[in-house]
Amino acid sequence: MKTTILGLSTVYTNEVSENLNELLASFQTYYQNLRGIHWNIKGKQFFELHVKFEELYTDATIKVDNIAERVLTLGEVPLHTFDDYIKNSKVAIGKNITKDEKAVQLIIDSLTSLLKIERVILKLSDEANDEGTNSLMSDFIAEQEKTIWMMKSWLGD
Ligand SMILES: [Fe+2]
Repeated sequence: MKTTILGLSTVYTNEVSENLNELLASFQTYYQNLRGIHWNIKGKQFFELHVKFEELYTDATIKVDNIAERVLTLGEVPLHTFDDYIKNSKVAIGKNITKDEKAVQLIIDSLTSLLKIERVILKLSDEANDEGTNSLMSDFIAEQEKTIWMMKSWLGD
């Protein structure tokens, strides 16, 4: 089996990097969804939600950077252009959303899509003993599951 300098198989490294790039593209869509609702939100909950959405997109920028740098650490190249993000993203785009419940639902839907990709990467990295990628995914998953719970609570579900 051909391995990389990290001791991971090159076949695995290629595959997981493709999935990490899909996650990166999807996270960029999630990030831009958050910017959109941060800017466009209207109503009596404006101040609370405007700040909450900023908190989430600030966190998303850190995660975007961590995903891209994991791809580089594995020896591959992270996607970084808008056209590649549009081609590879699995997160639905939210446009001109002004209503609070629709905005919160957009976050839940985006996170649900991200979780699906992360669970694929979690399984792949587990089977390959790639602890670095695996622990990154488990941290993301636990945080996002908690955010989904909070968003659902806000909706009264
Ligand atoms: Fe702002």
